[in-house]
Amino acid sequence: MTMTIDSRSIYTSEETTGIAKRVAQITVSAIKQMPLLASKIDGCVSLGQGIPSFNTPDFIREAIIKDLQDNKAIGKYSMQPGVPELRAAIAADLARTKKIKNIDAEKEIFISCGGMEALAAGIATIVERDDEVILPSPTYASHIEQVLFAEGKPCFVPLIEEKGWQLDVDGIRQAITKKTKAIVICNPVNPTGTVFSESELRALAKLALDHDIFLVLDEAYDFLVYGDVPYFSLASMPELKEHILCTGSFSKRYCMTGWRVGFMYASERIISQVLKVHDAFAICAPTISQYAALAALRATNGSDGAGDKSIKELVLALEQRKNLVCARLDRLSDLFSYEKPVGGYYFFPRINTADSSIQFALKLLNDARVITIPGSAFGPSGEGHIRLSFGAAEPEINEAFDRIEKYWRNSSPSQTQK
Ligand SMILES: Cc1ncc(COP(=O)(O)O)c(C=O)c1O
Repeated sequence: MTMTIDSRSIYTSEETTGIAKRVAQITVSAIKQMPLLASKIDGCVSLGQGIPSFNTPDFIREAIIKDLQDNKAIGKYSMQPGVPELRAAIAADLARTKKIKNIDAEKEIFISCGGMEALAAGIATIVERDDEVILPSPTYASHIEQVLFAEGKPCFVPLIEEKGWQLDVDGIRQAITKKTKAIVICNPVNPTGTVFSESELRALAKLALDHDIFLVLDEAYDFLVYGDVPYFSLASMPELKEHILCTGSFSKRYCMTGWRVGFMYASERIISQVLKVHDAFAICAPTISQYAALAALRATNGSDGAGDKSIKELVLALEQRKNLVCARLDRLSDLFSYEKPVGGYYFFPRINTADSSIQFALKLLNDARVITIPGSAFGPSGEGHIRLSFGAAEPEINEAFDRIEKYWRNSSPSQTQK
């Protein structure tokens, strides 16, 4: 499946004279464009960008206040791969939460500027011009740009919507060619809220081993799975070690989106190469943020640390918001049909209108003053959907749905509905 820039972005800069093709062809994702457009309209409410309404927990902020007073190194570059204690703490956390054993934190983990930089640097490290990269789609919009920036070719294999957006392992098998370099797996999936099962992922692992393909894992929402659905990380399979680039983030788990700290776990061979890209683009992740992440992990042990409590509270609050959004979507069943998310904090409903997803999201923005993200931003099979985040607090969610309802009831069915 192919897609053009026009279908995945809301606006593009026409003037690209002198600009390298690899940059001219990419776009700022619609996830970021929509809030920018909305900043010019008074009084918008947001179901848009994935920012939780909660502040960074007090125990992290307090630790940093103290660190600012006591830690003379906090305003300096850290070691280029990151603060050693933080890398060790991440290794211990991965062993506890994902059963990834025997990590050599010094050689197999580096700290990045958010999970985003780890993904971009990782993809740039392994993908060469014209290499094909399989993206089960819909998927996180930035993966598309990261592959294009590396001059690779995104090959979209649709998730199976009728089966709760399951992975189409046969479809992926058929999409593999001699040029296939990697598969990027976002799990839980932003935007669909799918959590892939262990058996689907093991089938994918077999493909990766059989065809010698890298698996780039985006596990930014690994902690956020509802109910007792098990979470399985491909990074826990020792036999995949030379095929895995596993990225993680502190942004969502600890409400630290603005601190910009994430990480990559991979074999020493891969990390040593990715570090060249990290050095060229960032030198190191912000040192102060690394100490904040360290404070977060030191208080998280799987039982009753301040970090554990904050994660539990976050998951509980988001689960309530998820239920609220279900109830609000059900009242609009002539407009939306949807799968309940199992992880993450997004709904990805199908929209019953004749508009494209970009047209519809722009109408909601301009006419209802509600920010949403058009589904086409997430790959071709995202068309016909919009992404609704439930990171916002309940009053904002309710206000947004009140406005959507009003807009929908007032709009002429003959004009808008299919
Ligand atoms: C699936 C996914 N991956 C990666 C990121 C980037 O996260 P970070 O803030 O760690 O760079 C996001 C942010 O929304 C995301 O949703």
